Amino acid sequence: MELLQWSSKFSVGIAKIDTQHQKLFSMINMLITSMSNQDDTTSLSWLVEDLISYVHYHFSSEENYLRAHPMYSSHCQEHHAFTTKIKEFELAKPDQTSLKPDVFAFLVSWLSDHVLARDRAHFRDLGYLL
Ligand SMILES: [Fe+2]
Repeated sequence: MELLQWSSKFSVGIAKIDTQHQKLFSMINMLITSMSNQDDTTSLSWLVEDLISYVHYHFSSEENYLRAHPMYSSHCQEHHAFTTKIKEFELAKPDQTSLKPDVFAFLVSWLSDHVLARDRAHFRDLGYLL
């Protein structure tokens, strides 16, 4: 499965948020690598826990910048839906059978689509991105 690779096409014009997106990309890549290496369930669980807590931290930093945007609440709803989804993985107690490739495909496509389509558009509207 293809790993996420950050490049300037993902930039939202704020170094702090770009750095957080890079960290999220690398956390998801670690999960994918760990899964394909067939690491033990405990390591996978820790990676999922770390991802969930970092996602919370990241979304709240991002939302602080986006409050003035007219689509602020629908943006937050997208964040909330994603958080709910990854919590399902946590509840499933990740193991070799519950974390299937489609789970990773979802994480990869959601994050890259969201950053490209939603974050960039909203940060641009607020003047952070040319
Ligand atoms: Fe976002």
